[in-house]
Amino acid sequence: MTKKIVIDPITRIEGHLRAEVEVDENGVVQEAYVSGQLFRGIETILKGRDPRDAGLLAGRICGVCTNSHFRAAVSSVEDAYSIKIPKNAQIIRDLMALALFIQDHVVHFYHLHSFDFMDVTSALKADAKLTSKEAHKYHEKPFRNSHSHYEAVLEKLSGFVKAGKLGPFSNGYWGHVDYKLTPEQNLILISHYLEALKFQTNISKAVAIFGGKTPHPQSIVVGGVTSVADMLNPQRLNDYLFIIKEAKDFIDRAYLPDAKLLCMAYREEIKEGRGRANGNFLAVGGYAFEGEQKLFCSGVIYGHDFENIEAFDESKIREEVDRSWYKEDEICYTDLNEDGSLKTAKNDDKYSWIKAPRYDGATMETGPLARVLISYHKKNMLIKSFVDDFLKETDLEMLDLSSTVGRNAARAIETSYICEYIFKLLSRLIQNIKYYDTDTWSKFDFGALAKETKGRAFFEVPRGVLAHFVNIKDAKIENFSVIAPTTWNATPKNLNGLRGAYEEALIGVKIEDPSKPLEVLKVLHSFDPCLACAVHIIDTKGKELSRYKL
Ligand code: NI
Repeated sequence: MTKKIVIDPITRIEGHLRAEVEVDENGVVQEAYVSGQLFRGIETILKGRDPRDAGLLAGRICGVCTNSHFRAAVSSVEDAYSIKIPKNAQIIRDLMALALFIQDHVVHFYHLHSFDFMDVTSALKADAKLTSKEAHKYHEKPFRNSHSHYEAVLEKLSGFVKAGKLGPFSNGYWGHVDYKLTPEQNLILISHYLEALKFQTNISKAVAIFGGKTPHPQSIVVGGVTSVADMLNPQRLNDYLFIIKEAKDFIDRAYLPDAKLLCMAYREEIKEGRGRANGNFLAVGGYAFEGEQKLFCSGVIYGHDFENIEAFDESKIREEVDRSWYKEDEICYTDLNEDGSLKTAKNDDKYSWIKAPRYDGATMETGPLARVLISYHKKNMLIKSFVDDFLKETDLEMLDLSSTVGRNAARAIETSYICEYIFKLLSRLIQNIKYYDTDTWSKFDFGALAKETKGRAFFEVPRGVLAHFVNIKDAKIENFSVIAPTTWNATPKNLNGLRGAYEEALIGVKIEDPSKPLEVLKVLHSFDPCLACAVHIIDTKGKELSRYKL
């Protein structure tokens, strides 16, 4: 007999996500339904607006991914008008976007996800000296690794306990059998959790140096960026560089070693393929200085076939709404019973506000894991040594990365690799300025531009592939459509029952205690869900939106 477990809302993510899983008598998940529970409609607000305002409005889609939507919306308008931006503007936009990758990944790992692996109450039993010794297994110079530092963390933790409240740690399934770390390993992670609180403030400043502020930067405009004074001020460039250098130190001496620690402690579940989706991966690639090697390669992998990566073709993207709460261009919410109570049975019904993007009919996983797998197998030399070193030190194979823990490893690898790339990009900017190229904006005459046109922009953003589509008529936005990374990963099924990455990753997961479904949270958190980004209103005209030429 199957039993149903409903988790709603899933916490420590952006937005409202619900998961319903059906488990057999052994607690093993047989079927899963993942649902976006909050309706959004930012695209409606964009309709009828001046296309030059698209960026500032679209930036409000999310409170986390603000810069990603801001840039993608502006770029889609530039694509519609065939406006080419200056090199410096391209670099500054990349510097802002890549600083956001670093901030996002570190916050995700420590503040949104690490509680699925570390048991705070176990850390109280740790020995400070042994903790310091343990940390040396994962790095030769571990971050803040003195006995006195660990003693201070322990004191802080026991202070929380004595006061009868665990503060930020009060909401956990402490003592759960799925926690595998020793008290010393737990203490290392908690120490880094606290350090990462400071880290995320600093790295936000890097985005703000060129963005004016963050979240919701202000400096990207159709045609380029307005951050001219920042670009020409050596102190500002130096501040940015210093923040990234500090970030890299934390990433290399805390974040990457912690990913190694998890890979070793959770080896058994990695080898079982826990949290593995269907092995379909999509990346659109990007971030390059002129004709040089791109930071990320584009491509499509089917069923973990790493040797045969297909070229990405945007005309193969379609959106379905069979199981989403839309019908043609109307909202069609069907989640209530006649008496007004919430439905939980999900047989052939609609069950999510998230639309269902498909690539050539298939569901796709997008994000750091997809990027790492595709870039590595397309022989991107920028990333190769990062992946090889990690796999060698953890004694894992490539396929092992396609798992809950592996997804985190891919994210940590990517973060370190992005830091290196930022240094190169910044030196390109300085080189340009040296040779008196100080352009940051391409002039255009709005009145003379096409009155009816359309454009699109694809970007790799922290959680995966982001696409914005704009249709312009009478110099106003006629239609605007977004497919965000979480839309791909958290997609509902279609009428044939085809599962998306979140749902597929849950199948086969064993839940020890239905009242404490830590195993389900761990799988879903590993994707870094952003529900505010994922839910977008459908428009029947959307069916035509993917007919663009790259
Ligand atoms: Ni978001």
